Amino acid sequence: SGKHKVAIVGSGNWGSTIAKILAENTEAQSDVFQKEVKMWVYEEKFQLPDSHPKYDSSKHSKPSNLTELINELHENPKYLPGVALPEHIIATPDIKDCVADASILVFNIPHQFVPQICKQIEGQHLPYARAISCIKGVSVSEDGISLFSDSIGKRLGIYCGALSGANIASEVAQEKFSETTIGFSPDDSKLKPLPEGLPKVDHELIQNLFHRPYFHVKMIDDVAGVSLGGALKNIIALATGFVDGLGWGDNAKAAIMRVGLLEMRKFGKMYFSNSCRTATFTEESCGIADLITSCSGGRNHRCAKLSIERGKSVDEIEQSELNGQKLQGTLTAKEVYEFLKKEGTTEEFPLMTAVYNILEGTVKPEELPDIIDPKSPKR
Ligand code: NAD
Ligand code: 13P
Repeated sequence: SGKHKVAIVGSGNWGSTIAKILAENTEAQSDVFQKEVKMWVYEEKFQLPDSHPKYDSSKHSKPSNLTELINELHENPKYLPGVALPEHIIATPDIKDCVADASILVFNIPHQFVPQICKQIEGQHLPYARAISCIKGVSVSEDGISLFSDSIGKRLGIYCGALSGANIASEVAQEKFSETTIGFSPDDSKLKPLPEGLPKVDHELIQNLFHRPYFHVKMIDDVAGVSLGGALKNIIALATGFVDGLGWGDNAKAAIMRVGLLEMRKFGKMYFSNSCRTATFTEESCGIADLITSCSGGRNHRCAKLSIERGKSVDEIEQSELNGQKLQGTLTAKEVYEFLKKEGTTEEFPLMTAVYNILEGTVKPEELPDIIDPKSPKR
């Protein structure tokens, strides 16, 4: 049709928020984009509370499919309650239906589900589709560590960039100002060409697809730096949650964030030196700014803090407090630890290693000051 069709795979707290942004922009830029945005939803039953303004006892007295509720209410009542979604977001439980005719695919699911979802998408998508991953996590396997932008791209044989920034979803959904970073640098000569008439997918087009007056997008080439910042800060956010849980105050938290940022930068330098610019961690929203916001208002921080206050594991708090939303930091801490152990470099990353050990119960959060400053005089 000469216009791009956009689809989003995922519909959680951030997935639904990004769907709203995409749909606002496809409507505003009808010369470039088809208006409808399909959104893949992991189907589940949901009981609409009778306090909901659109509750109708003739329809909602029993749990309904979440997809049907989203399409009826134009809201995701489970993962983003109270936020109106544009009516041209069409929720579908069928992944094939979601991706089949989309020339731009946006991935926005918790990272643990990526392999199984990619398996279902393989062969079902357009060969010339371009993708953006909004996922914060790393993929660790026998072969080593990789970024989802890379692993999705390789698996599906398409190009995948990355979006990440200081973006607590509930704030973005309420259209409170934030910035984000998109890493995008396709080599068009190596990709399946777009059909005649379809606009080139370049920095300008991708920026126009995501930028809103309340959501400012900065485009850069460093896809690895964008992906890595979003993944690693979740580990550091857990650490700051632990010290906040101990009631240690803002100075302690700032110390953890300082060391955390240095470890993030070092990790990029050691393991992604070919692809990642260390300045991305200190200069862009996907680095320092995401670290700051996640260590204040993020879910990883909140759950780690509650785990100390209530004497429960972070997993237990995630189950009881998040209503189905998923933490990324706990699994990422384990994945990064396993990778570092294999590399023999755990001692070079004492904070990230300590977070894993605290989650495992083998180290106490009270030990963090000496762990991040191993040369401190002991007396
Ligand atoms: P979420 O944690 O709010 O929700 C969990 C999602 O996982 C739901 O959509 C649920 O349907 C789905 N799910 C549950 N079981 C599943 C399964 N077996 N297979 C597939 N899907 C399943 O999700 P989110 O916040 O949208 O997170 C997606 C990504 O966005 C994560 O990597 C996260 O780090 C990142 N992110 C989140 C925020 C935020 O503030 N929420 C901000 C920026 C980035
Ligand atoms: P949490 O998953 O810890 O809520 O972090 C959200 C986020 O990535 C903010 O940028």
